[in-house]
Amino acid sequence: MEQQVENRQVIFKGFIERAPRETDMELKVGRISGGLKAPAGSGAFLVKNLYLSCDPYMRGRMRDSRTSYIPPFVPGQPIEGFGVSKVIDSDDPDFKPGDIVAGFTGWEEYSLIRKTNQLRKIEQHDVPLSYHLGLLGMPGFTAYVGFHEICSPKKGDTVLVSAASGAVGHLVGQLAKLHGCYVVGSAGSSQKVDLLKNKLGFDEAFVYKEEPDLDAALKRYFPQGIDIYFDNVGGDMLDAALLNMRVSGRIAVCGMVSQHSQTDPQGIHNLFNMITKRIRMQGFLQSDYLHLFPLFFNQVTEYYKQGKITYMEDTVRGLEHASAAFVGLFSGRNVGKQVIHVASP
Ligand SMILES: NC(=O)c1ccc[n+]([C@@H]2O[C@H](COP(=O)([O-])OP(=O)(O)OC[C@H]3O[C@@H](n4cnc5c(N)ncnc54)[C@H](OP(=O)(O)O)[C@@H]3O)[C@@H](O)[C@H]2O)c1
Repeated sequence: MEQQVENRQVIFKGFIERAPRETDMELKVGRISGGLKAPAGSGAFLVKNLYLSCDPYMRGRMRDSRTSYIPPFVPGQPIEGFGVSKVIDSDDPDFKPGDIVAGFTGWEEYSLIRKTNQLRKIEQHDVPLSYHLGLLGMPGFTAYVGFHEICSPKKGDTVLVSAASGAVGHLVGQLAKLHGCYVVGSAGSSQKVDLLKNKLGFDEAFVYKEEPDLDAALKRYFPQGIDIYFDNVGGDMLDAALLNMRVSGRIAVCGMVSQHSQTDPQGIHNLFNMITKRIRMQGFLQSDYLHLFPLFFNQVTEYYKQGKITYMEDTVRGLEHASAAFVGLFSGRNVGKQVIHVASP
């Protein structure tokens, strides 16, 4: 009799324009026939997924858009995202059973995957495997290249970071502190603000939801103005930051999480400040800087081992909680990097 293996999967149900809901995904039991094998001649390898990453950009893949930098999810198929996985069987000579890899995989117990430009073997096992989805993975790399390559930081610069307790934001703030900057974070709750100030070393932090006037709040924290705004949210905070930038300020446009589900995205009113203050505002994608990944990896690993960077991770256990964890990104449920623990090696 043909051997069949159960494979629980989180299936993407269909495209949406509104904010994502848990019901946009469903848990199903798929089956792999022929046992846990990578088909001969496929050039692929079969992995057991250990950790999966929830990232805001994935919301964009729930829209039926062919013009984005990354293709949409396929309705009826598992959600795709970054994961840390163990190779079970391989038809690729570069990967062998037992290897641990980080890269794109499926939201399921077992996936058949191929090499991509963001797939890498994890050789060092002296940091927790899940950290390769955050501190030492795509969000950490985003913080690193966004701050160092886009913000042109100088010692003593004043820096504002939004979504500051999130995966990218909490690392940007700490990299800025290591660079000798004055750093203020905005976040969605007093618990997050407390962590930023008392655990991560931010100079100041505030709850943006409790500020009736963001311009006034920024004037309070930056009486001399802002040199660098690391923007993770867009919308009202970007507008208020523009009003408070100093001459020759830099704005790194990393993300616009406040706009992800708006069918009619909010306009920005204060762009005239870019002229009067000679501001440089630049969007970027971490994937354009992959040549810097080894430098980032070595430097941030070193910082972490020396206790210079504190990493915050928010873990849910079990694929059955994956959709709730993902949806929670858009209400600020996560504190630090949101990961899903699927299985142990
Ligand atoms: N350019 C790139 O290459 C690149 C790469 C990775 C990530 N990104 C972007 O970077 C940003 C941060 O990503 P991340 O992985 O670090 O996510 P994250 O910050 O860990 O999670 C999202 C956070 O955004 C905040 N948020 C949600 N809705 C909001 C709203 N309407 N207004 C203001 N804040 C809101 C929430 O925190 P609060 O409780 O503080 O509201 C939530 O915890 C995202 O925009 C993402 O798309 C860009």
